[in-house]
Formats: sequence, structure tokens, C-alpha cells
Amino acid sequence: MANPKKKLALNLDKLPKLDKLSKLDNFPRDQILFVKSLVESPGEIGQVTPSSRFLAEGMVNNLDLATAKIVVEFGPGTGAVTKAIVKKCGPQTAFFALETNTGMITIWQRRFPNHKIIHDSAENISTHLKANNFEQADYIISSLPFALLPPDLAERILHNAYEALRPDGVFVTYQYLHARVINSAMRLLRKTFSDIDTSVVFRNLPPAFVFRCHKR
Ligand SMILES: C[S@@+](CC[C@H](N)C(=O)[O-])C[C@H]1O[C@@H](n2cnc3c(N)ncnc32)[C@H](O)[C@@H]1O
Repeated sequence: MANPKKKLALNLDKLPKLDKLSKLDNFPRDQILFVKSLVESPGEIGQVTPSSRFLAEGMVNNLDLATAKIVVEFGPGTGAVTKAIVKKCGPQTAFFALETNTGMITIWQRRFPNHKIIHDSAENISTHLKANNFEQADYIISSLPFALLPPDLAERILHNAYEALRPDGVFVTYQYLHARVINSAMRLLRKTFSDIDTSVVFRNLPPAFVFRCHKR
């Protein structure tokens, strides 16, 4: 019989190796990477599973990506939201993503070989816009877990995102539906953006609040 006093521990070595999973479908592969990354750096990942198609579509809903000059994604992970973004971008829309986790980048690059991902923190967006000959972005679409990031980093990323947006540009992000987290996310976003509208996506586990922050 199992000893109830024995501590529950996640033995990462017992998870299947990612390179052995190439013949399986995407779900377990992404899932294992999310669990591993979450255990290694919980404050950077913030969720155990990629976002649902419904949340990804909710993030880009009402954004005119087709006529945008440049769209930037923060924290694309394995590409759940990227898929919805690139589907809506027009033929002239430039796009790049900023991601810090190398495991996520490897999978993302295989999935989106015609798009650009940069291994750097979102706070450095302006440097990468300039390197790609853009002054400011039309849209920034972020999956960063702001409630879990160190507060000074979260504020710096939001400040730099605001500066990097063109006037009337939009910054979109989400947080899971939990009163305390939603309140602190809203407080944090309001320090930078005064015009924010929200919507709820129920078809995601857990359901999520989408924040659309307008630069006025
Ligand atoms: C919650 S996951 C979202 C992944 C994916 N977009 C999705 O919705 O399924 C957050 C992602 O942000 C990345 N991340 C965390 N801090 C970052 C930073 N400062 N700059 C860029 N990416 C970061 C993590 O490595 C992770 O891939």
C-alpha cells in the first residue's frame, strides 16, 4: 500500500524525453515541455498547458492585423497564440516573437519556419524593432504571466511595451480567471495604460480574462 506520508515529487527524469516524442502528435510533446519548464522556472511559464484555440482566437479578435505594418508577440511558447496571429496577418504585415525559453524556441521554429523568433526578453522590444527597421509596433500580443513575474520586471516590460507602441496601437494580454490575480493584473496594467477593455474566454482551462490596452 502507498505510504500516505511520502512526499509527492515530480521526477523529471521519468518524463519521456522530448526527442523521443517526434512521432507522437503535438499535444503530449507541448504538454511535457510546459510541465518541465514550469517545474524549472514557475515564474516564467505560469501555466501547465498551452492556451486553447479559443483563447488564442479571443486574443486576436477585433485586431486589424491584416493592415498592420508590424506585430510583435511576447512569450509565444510553443505557438498556440502565434498560430492565430499569423493566420490574421496580411501579406505585408511584418511579425516577430520574443521568447526566453530555448526549449520553446526549438519547437516554435520547427512549427513556424517562415517566421522570426528572437531569443531575448520582451523588455528589449525597442532594440529589436529598430534592428528590423521599425520605429514602433502596431500591436503587441503578450502571453507573459505578469502576475508571477518579479514586479520590477513586469513594470519595465509594460513601460517598454507602451513606449514601443505607435499612438493608437494596442497591447493585448490575458490572465486566468481568479479574482486576486485579475485585480493585481488590472492594477499593474493601469499603471501604464489608461484605456483598457476586457473580455472573458470560457472555453479555456481555466477560463481567462483578455485585456486590450490602447495607447492614447
Ligand atoms: C504562459 S506561457 C504562454 C505560452 C503560449 N503563448 C501559450 O499561450 O500557450 C509564457 C511564455 O512566456 C515566456 N517568457 C517568460 N518571461 C519572458 C520574457 N521576459 N520575455 C519573453 N518571453 C518570456 C515563457 O518562456 C513562456 O514560453
